[in-house]
Amino acid sequence: MATSESDKCWRECMDVAVEVACRAGKVVQEAVKHEKSVSTKSTPTDLVTEADQQVEELIISTLRDKFPSHRFIGEESSAAGEKCILTDNPSWIIDPIDGTCNFVHSFPMVAVSIGFAVKKELEFGVIYHCFDGTLYTARKGHGAFCNGVRIQVSKEKDVSKALILTEIGAKRDPATLNIFSGNIMKLLSAPTHGVRIIGSSTLALCLIATGAAEAYYQYGLHCWDIAAAAVIIREAGGIVIDTSGGPLDLMSRRVVAAGTHEMANYIVQQLQPISYERDDSDPDVQK
Ligand code: IPD
Repeated sequence: MATSESDKCWRECMDVAVEVACRAGKVVQEAVKHEKSVSTKSTPTDLVTEADQQVEELIISTLRDKFPSHRFIGEESSAAGEKCILTDNPSWIIDPIDGTCNFVHSFPMVAVSIGFAVKKELEFGVIYHCFDGTLYTARKGHGAFCNGVRIQVSKEKDVSKALILTEIGAKRDPATLNIFSGNIMKLLSAPTHGVRIIGSSTLALCLIATGAAEAYYQYGLHCWDIAAAAVIIREAGGIVIDTSGGPLDLMSRRVVAAGTHEMANYIVQQLQPISYERDDSDPDVQK
């Protein structure tokens, strides 16, 4: 496809993504008011509700109707056993309810996240905050927006003036928690202004894009937590990389994001890694 043709094509896909993310977000808004049927997935703290499954079905069936040749990676389809492999084909990467634990408790940090990649390159991202209706959007080369207003990351380089965000991840064994709290203690004693955990990776990453916080890091998140947000941060002028300091690997379940290279590099140097199985590891292959 010629560049101008693909540009038009992906713009049309993004218009559909915005429409479906807002529609799905309103379903989540309504579902918050009702009793939730909660189950667990990989660990007792990895929650799923009927709403997660219904909203994913709504998003994927709408998109599949319009784009039957595209591929879909969704949090709940993957939990149900579908392979989570990113190919060169146009691919939608979907988290129907990011912040499921928040959703269960009606804690107001819950989002619908839709990312889109072609030839393994992220093209656009759409994130809808289900409690306040804020819409974050970005398309490669076209800037990042919050409710249609352009956003920019913080250009702070001085770590002692930084607010850092992170998330916990599903593993809660003592060894993991020791490393997790050690990382936080190191950053608190840098000293930084503070460390915050809000319970939604996608919304925390959006706060990096708006400049409300200077850096984010996490071990244990999934490709559907990063895909849309990575485009939004990059288009807001920020950096999204691997915790090793190398390029982001969408399937590696680890990320550092920041407004400046200096801030990102500082975080990379402080972190002790926590290992998680990759999103694209094949359960059928003997290890
Ligand atoms: C999770 C949340 C959580 C983060 C996890 C994510 P989910 O997403 O964003 O804050 O710690 O790593 O997987 O399961 O609520 O969609």
